[in-house]
Amino acid sequence: MEHVPVLLDEILRALSDRENSLERVLDCTLGLGGYTVAILETFPGAQVWGIDQDSEALAIAAERASGYGDRFHPVHGNFSAMDALVGDEAPFDAILFDLGVSNLQLTSGERGFSFQEDGPLDMRMDASSPLTAADLVNEGSEKDLADIFWKYGEERFSRPIARGIVRFRQRSGRIDRTSTLVEIIRSTLPAPVQRKMGGHPARRVFQALRIAVNDELEALTLGLRGAKALCRDGGSILAVSYHSLEDRIVKHLFREWQQAELGTVRTRRPITPSDEETVRNHKARSAKLRIFSVGGSREGGNERRWRVR
Ligand SMILES: C[S@@+](CC[C@H](N)C(=O)[O-])C[C@H]1O[C@@H](n2cnc3c(N)ncnc32)[C@H](O)[C@@H]1O
Repeated sequence: MEHVPVLLDEILRALSDRENSLERVLDCTLGLGGYTVAILETFPGAQVWGIDQDSEALAIAAERASGYGDRFHPVHGNFSAMDALVGDEAPFDAILFDLGVSNLQLTSGERGFSFQEDGPLDMRMDASSPLTAADLVNEGSEKDLADIFWKYGEERFSRPIARGIVRFRQRSGRIDRTSTLVEIIRSTLPAPVQRKMGGHPARRVFQALRIAVNDELEALTLGLRGAKALCRDGGSILAVSYHSLEDRIVKHLFREWQQAELGTVRTRRPITPSDEETVRNHKARSAKLRIFSVGGSREGGNERRWRVR
């Protein structure tokens, strides 16, 4: 299983640009260890703590980083509870977030994240958490569902899709498979509407359910606040987001901190992948990297060097 790390060169360059040496790094979204292994390899003096709530990913990453001995520390849990997980190891020189799902989660039908593979309607990143996508889809009212699709998927056709789901439930019973949900969305929306949607007609509904099941936006706000508390003065917080809801939270919190004179936004505009990276890795196309330096100097001197385009 491969997960091609997104904006990796830009992340490593930003970490190298620091004035102080890099000794303690917190990777809040370890995934398959793409960033972590690259950091361990590039900075021989660094130790990395890697958090993930997905124990399957954690095991793969731990195996990949096993050659680095006690420089790597895997931690199972949700980064929204960062202080409880790694507070004793603080302060960190750099704290990273690479948001969303990994390829492992996305391509395995059994995890239920994919609208292209049949599987159970699950979508939990942490398999021990109680709420699944099937719970939401089968127990939510028409209004609840429309609200979720609109709020977390910015789906323009949220209401007809929610109506289609409730009608299906009344007629045929539970919806437990991803393929059934895709079929309902396809049969609810007229073909010209589906053509106008651009991309797969179920994409936004799946994004919305995933965000709701994993409470991703609340976790992100708590995670970023936790990161600021655990980051050394002069240290950096780096966040890669993949859709506007995530990016808005990162942008607004960084700006709020700068206005409160708690540090400096290093990326007035987000860093985005080069055309070459987007061609090589289609999943990188929507990525945006924002960087915040905690405390320290208010000069934004490194910004131009970090900007790719
Ligand atoms: C995009 S992947 C990270 C990929 C990684 N940078 C790499 O190169 O392999 C995101 C990972 O973050 C994890 N994750 C997302 N939200 C989380 C949270 N609130 N707490 C802990 N882990 C989370 C997911 O389970 C997933 O494995």
